[in-house]
Amino acid sequence: MNSPVMQGLNLNTPAYVKNAKLVAWVAEMAALCKPAHIYWCDGSQEEYDRLCADLVSAGTFKKLNPAKRPGSFLACSDPSDVARVEDRTYICSARKEDAGPTNNWMEPAQMRATLQPLFDGCMAGRTLYVVPFSMGPLGSHISHIGIELTDSAYVAVNQKLMTRMGKAVYDVLGAEGEFVPCMHTVGAPLAAGEKDATAWPCNPSTKYIVHYPETREIWSYGSGYGGNALLGKKCFALRIASNMGREQGWLAEHMLILGVTNPQGKKYHVAAAFPSACGKTNFSMLVPPAGFEGWKVTTIGDDIAWVKPHADGKMYAINPEAGYFGVAPGTNYHTNPNCMASLDKNVIYTNVALTDDGDVWWEGMEKDTGKLPDHLIDWQGKDWTPQIAKETGAKAAHPNARFTVAAINNPALDPAWDDPAGVAIDAFMFGGRRSTTVPLVTEARNWTEGVYMAATMGSETTAAAFGAQGVVRRDPFAMLPFCGYNMSDYFQHWLDIGAKVQAAGHTLPAMFCVNWFRKGADGKFVWPGYGDNMRVLKWMIDRLEGKAQGEETLFGVAPQYAEINWNGISFSAEQFKTVTSIDKAAWSEELQLHNTHFQQLAYHMPQALLKTKAQLESRLAAV
Ligand code: OXD
Ligand code: MN
Repeated sequence: MNSPVMQGLNLNTPAYVKNAKLVAWVAEMAALCKPAHIYWCDGSQEEYDRLCADLVSAGTFKKLNPAKRPGSFLACSDPSDVARVEDRTYICSARKEDAGPTNNWMEPAQMRATLQPLFDGCMAGRTLYVVPFSMGPLGSHISHIGIELTDSAYVAVNQKLMTRMGKAVYDVLGAEGEFVPCMHTVGAPLAAGEKDATAWPCNPSTKYIVHYPETREIWSYGSGYGGNALLGKKCFALRIASNMGREQGWLAEHMLILGVTNPQGKKYHVAAAFPSACGKTNFSMLVPPAGFEGWKVTTIGDDIAWVKPHADGKMYAINPEAGYFGVAPGTNYHTNPNCMASLDKNVIYTNVALTDDGDVWWEGMEKDTGKLPDHLIDWQGKDWTPQIAKETGAKAAHPNARFTVAAINNPALDPAWDDPAGVAIDAFMFGGRRSTTVPLVTEARNWTEGVYMAATMGSETTAAAFGAQGVVRRDPFAMLPFCGYNMSDYFQHWLDIGAKVQAAGHTLPAMFCVNWFRKGADGKFVWPGYGDNMRVLKWMIDRLEGKAQGEETLFGVAPQYAEINWNGISFSAEQFKTVTSIDKAAWSEELQLHNTHFQQLAYHMPQALLKTKAQLESRLAAV
């Protein structure tokens, strides 16, 4: 293929790129962004090593001690660029109603007019990297292709770990294939001869994360961090893909996927939605506790699931990602031993602390070693000692510090994690973070009740994150920041998918609502969580196998104390009651909150959910 020359800049299109639409788009974007160079990523190890070496030279990466963390690097971001920016994230559908009340919206033409001058010349002095990636196994009928254009080498190397990135994508794309165009810039153009003044270029004052659902485009400006910049993840695999799924009859979900195999070798697959920072990665890598000999949990995905109903009546799920971008603080051998084992080599760390011997450290690791390190360089490059931490409260790692690691590092990786056919889901789980009210686990009596449970999921806010403390922030299906269209239409989509599978005479996956976070009178968590969540998982499987009768409650079917496997733990019936009891007064208040929530989502709110609420109210009145 000829390489068009843009204003003296050669596109350098490799011969193996045959897609004319792609080449034309790269040419158009290069003309807009005016980079100094264009580089087409091939996804090879040689390329990854070279780009990492470039990042070391630029000061963005620090190579970690190869004797401690082989093949690993530490990046520390600008302090203004440490997390997803939900208030700067937009769904620019043609009609405001289609973005719905939970998304920021701007009229598409107005947003394009806003972004045009920002993108004009935004890559001056930098390289434009063309990053081809497949979300999902290459060539799977459930997968989709994206091409990210970015001026960040940090993004390019992260995408190599997080997605199936490289040359092979062009074979799948071919001459006519479709791709989601993902435009990304750190928003920090360089004047002629100017060098970066910082190792983490970004735009500290202007950020936009923009989605055009009708044309399936993503435009991200000003940030180099995580979900703002690795556009395959939240932007494509959730916000754009939820729109694709709605049109095409499938589901793009903020869910982990795990396999659980019993001692007889029978295997089940579970997809679970939990809000950000509620332990999805931990649950997806769960190690069964003592007393569960012969049980095995294996990871298919830790964050996102694409689920498609199949003609055989089953719902098949793939993990569109190929790596984990997980929160480091709090991760240790107690909370997630498989994750710790994944992190011993070939990892990109962002915003964790550096030890004096060139290793990494974050809060929570002291639980493994029994002591704090004497000295560290914190994520902002300052000295950190236990004394400084005591006096100032300074954290060595940023609370949202991350690791980026390929899934193949995970010792608990499921053999089917890369299967193009996906895995058949037996159960969905939905769980928020509630200190009261919502019981440890209940099973929905039917699909609609399950959708209701998921639609009303919530987490209590912490003062640091959202202002008032202890207020329940509803996070339906854990999709509040990720649903790319009107939330009530999304509820209806779930109801429709269920109705379709049932109308064809098939059995739907079971649905469970869980809450690991109930607290006792002393304000402490009652349920031990982590590996002990296996006890709940096993009860779910007993329900699937018809071995646990449970008992009817207001809010689904709950386990009886004797139905849980208590081997290896002492957890009294009294404690069990603390995590499972249903308090009438608390539930009256809860239903008032469901009312407010549903009023906020009134546009297209499915009647079936209002009916389920009315049933709940009359059940409560009868208690
Ligand atoms: C994530 C998130 O990073 O949900 O996965 O914020
Ligand atoms: Mn997530």
